[in-house]
Amino acid sequence: MNDIWVEKYRPKNLDEVVGQAEAVKRLKAYAQGGSLPHLMFAGPAGTGKTTCAIALARQLFGENWRNNFHELNASDERGIDIVRGKIKDFARTAPFGKVPFKVIFLDEADALTSDAQAALRRTMERYTATCRFVLSCNYSSKIIEPIQSRCAVFRFRPLEDAEVISYLKKIAEAEKLKVSESAYDIIAYHAMGDLRRATNSLQAAAAMAKSIDDDVVHKTSALARPEEIAAMVKEAVAGNFSGARGKLDKLLIDLGLSGEDILKQLHREVLEGDINISEEDRIRIIERLGEVEYRLIQGGSDRIQLESLLAWIASARVKRTA
Ligand SMILES: Nc1ncnc2c1ncn2[C@@H]1O[C@H](COP(=O)(O)OP(=O)(O)OP(=O)(O)O)[C@@H](O)[C@H]1O
Ligand SMILES: [Mg+2]
Repeated sequence: MNDIWVEKYRPKNLDEVVGQAEAVKRLKAYAQGGSLPHLMFAGPAGTGKTTCAIALARQLFGENWRNNFHELNASDERGIDIVRGKIKDFARTAPFGKVPFKVIFLDEADALTSDAQAALRRTMERYTATCRFVLSCNYSSKIIEPIQSRCAVFRFRPLEDAEVISYLKKIAEAEKLKVSESAYDIIAYHAMGDLRRATNSLQAAAAMAKSIDDDVVHKTSALARPEEIAAMVKEAVAGNFSGARGKLDKLLIDLGLSGEDILKQLHREVLEGDINISEEDRIRIIERLGEVEYRLIQGGSDRIQLESLLAWIASARVKRTA
């Protein structure tokens, strides 16, 4: 029970990777051929970028994969020094054993400054005979063009809810947990395709109970139920500001949610939930959400910004139906 499940259940080889069929197929071909260009893995958190890099290294290098695989996190040190120092030191030492090259996995490469990226580009060229880079990033557009063009680019997608759930079911079986279908649904809903988040939610729930239903998930995840968010919006849409405000209080105070968490869920409920509004109103609310998000990021108060949003929805509705 002390293990961290995201490590314990991290796939060891490419066949165990969930989804990402296209990426896995191409990576397997490299593993079989024993050769590799520089790679770039782009995609959201918890979708298998690090997992695939390690699995690829295991398949390329076998048991002693650790000798030829170096993992660095660019966001710890974002400047040019990391490229001139650590990265270069790794790159210029000879590979171990029979393989002609080693692999440097650079996590969060998009956190590197553009000067550091320029230096990285030169390092990639200079040590290309003995070293392959696998760059991991959330957005490929944040990587300078000359690096992008030197890499084979792989896009990692958020996993489907069904894929998330079947992955969780395997963990639950191994851990001998009883989990209700609605608990799986709610974990997948909140994970939004991020398997790390999904696995962590399941582990947090399992720490509280062996038999997990949606109530346990809610108590351990500090997130609102979709219905709670929808109910708040519905009150506002009906013109009932104080009702909506009461529901907001519950989310902010009782559940301790942040303004940004609430806003993200609001966005999703307005787009996908069963709130009965016209397409025109939906568009207006979504537009407004963008403004409120910006103000929150700029340091606006959670309560004041969200109340102003609810007030806006409530009063706009009153005006138009009056
Ligand atoms: N496609 C996948 N198949 C199987 N397990 C996965 C997959 N994606 C993520 N996981 C699980 O989630 C955990 C986190 O995945 P991983 O470290 O590969 O994410 P990442 O894409 O590198 O994310 P980040 O951008 O945050 O570094 C893994 O330990 C693994 O258990
Ligand atoms: Mg990673």
